[in-house]
Amino acid sequence: MRIPESKIAEVGSAADIVQVISGYVDLKRAGKDFRGICPFHGDKDPSFYVSPQKGIFHCFGCAVGGSVFNFIMKMENVSFVEAVRMLAGRYGVDIPATREPAGARDERERLAQALETSRIYFAESLRRNEAARDYLAGRGIPGEWMQDLGLGFAPDSWDGMEQFLVGRGIRLSDAAAVGLVKPRTSGGYYDYFRSRIMIPINELSGRHVAYGGRIVGPGDPKYLNSPDSPIFRKRSVLYGLDSAREAIRREGFVVMVEGYFDQIALRIRGLENTVAPLGTALGSEQIRLLKRFATEVITVFDGDEAGLKAVKRSLPLFLAEGIEPRCVILTEDKDPDEAVNRVGVEAFRRLLESSVSMIDFFLESLERQHDLRGLHGRNLALEESLPVLREVADSKERDYLIERFSSHIRVREDRLRRLISTGAMNRRPAEGAGRGTRRSLYDFPADERNVVRGMLLREGFIDRVLESGILKDLEDPVLLELALSMVECREDKGDFDPLMFGRSLEDSGLASLVAGWIKPRPDEDDLRPEVDGDLAMDQSLDRIRLRKLEKRKAAIKARMEKCTPCGDEYNALAMELWAIGQRLHK
Ligand code: UTP
Ligand code: MN
Repeated sequence: MRIPESKIAEVGSAADIVQVISGYVDLKRAGKDFRGICPFHGDKDPSFYVSPQKGIFHCFGCAVGGSVFNFIMKMENVSFVEAVRMLAGRYGVDIPATREPAGARDERERLAQALETSRIYFAESLRRNEAARDYLAGRGIPGEWMQDLGLGFAPDSWDGMEQFLVGRGIRLSDAAAVGLVKPRTSGGYYDYFRSRIMIPINELSGRHVAYGGRIVGPGDPKYLNSPDSPIFRKRSVLYGLDSAREAIRREGFVVMVEGYFDQIALRIRGLENTVAPLGTALGSEQIRLLKRFATEVITVFDGDEAGLKAVKRSLPLFLAEGIEPRCVILTEDKDPDEAVNRVGVEAFRRLLESSVSMIDFFLESLERQHDLRGLHGRNLALEESLPVLREVADSKERDYLIERFSSHIRVREDRLRRLISTGAMNRRPAEGAGRGTRRSLYDFPADERNVVRGMLLREGFIDRVLESGILKDLEDPVLLELALSMVECREDKGDFDPLMFGRSLEDSGLASLVAGWIKPRPDEDDLRPEVDGDLAMDQSLDRIRLRKLEKRKAAIKARMEKCTPCGDEYNALAMELWAIGQRLHK
């Protein structure tokens, strides 16, 4: 569904970008701008800028940027339209509801509806099933909490859900898209979840997007989770974060556990700042999600061996995001659920207070596992350390850790440093990072870049580019798209305002690019007035125009050689060649 441009502009000027962003990032004034730690990548230096005058944010570290809408889109994981609506609601701008939602949004709403309807079915069947309620009560979950958590029960039926949904007007294809039913090979559908406690999973906004289903009693698999769908991406959701976010901000730290029931057990007992990943192991996207609320993380892992494995896996991910987690390894209990039930919440809190730095834990475990007196043991320890050290984003931090690792595993610092940098060259790109258009200024062909920036920054330059006829010849697809959107924007409005244009961009890659250009890095930019940026733009425009003419000239000559001399076509080509010659030597 589209929101009229005028409304977008109205919300854009009502929503104070500094106020909005400071809800997520600690901003400090820096001249006309505000500065802070970028919430989108693992950085420790404040390279994240917000310009209230220009209405943009921009990070010089990861090149992300854009309008206040782009910020909300990234932060809250919502679409452009949703971001506009959220801010409209907050700043009291009225956006009339439209009758005709667009296809995609329509689908998302139908899927959400299917899930919401399924919850009624699961809740009702939990009310009727005493064994299931007993099971939950036996795990220490009181009746009120069953309701508050939205728990349900999937009965042992192949078509109960199917019938219920059909009766409520839900399309089975929608139910299948969110994994409530599965298509049968013989046609029709069957219920996906059977004989399971159903745990609703909400995204950050609190909207219900999936389920985790735990079998009651023994059986395989123990947990069955909803598949990814248009409204659910496992890797970008943390169980419990929607209810924990306020507590996390308040307490200043988050407790990370492994299972749904661990989260539930701690939450019920008042440790509300607890979250858990979903089925799969913790990933970078989830850590970035957490970073919006707290940078202090205490992970609680099960048992010695599994705990060590989890530490080795997750430590590099945290470090890559600039977080140095603390950890608690449970030795006497299987998991936090059992621990808190056994020792009580006060003792559990003390356990959290006794958490140790995950790096220290890792270093000590290297010493325990390997015999560092021998070369072989040192090499094994080295091999385990490199992936961890390579992920440390901050260079000062890395220097400090290299020193510590070097003395612990008894490998010389310079050797460690060398090994880190050779491997870092071909390491995989960070999960979920950069989607193609996140490029720096200098990754673009220089002349095309200067011209398109001229269109953005210099009054009247769009017209000059249009007159020169080179627009369609831009070879870089991103620059071409940007140039065409500017032309379109100008045609819509009659004139062109770079800030207004930036605000209207939905594509996050383009928005980042534009924000970076509106707010160039002063020491790196070759289009500054004092180095005569205008001249550089003019020259670039000329060069592209000339290249185009030269190309055409070559094509004409080739063609002329193939046609009858002094025929009609030959003459026409000769005329054109002459005209090009005139323009080239103008
Ligand atoms: P655990 O096996 O530690 O289970 O798995 P748990 O949470 O302690 O469960 P209870 O106490 O036996 O009920 C931890 C997490 O791993 C995922 C789930 O997210 C679970 O909460 N998991 C586990 C699955 O997705 N599938 C499985 O079959 C098992
Ligand atoms: Mn458990």
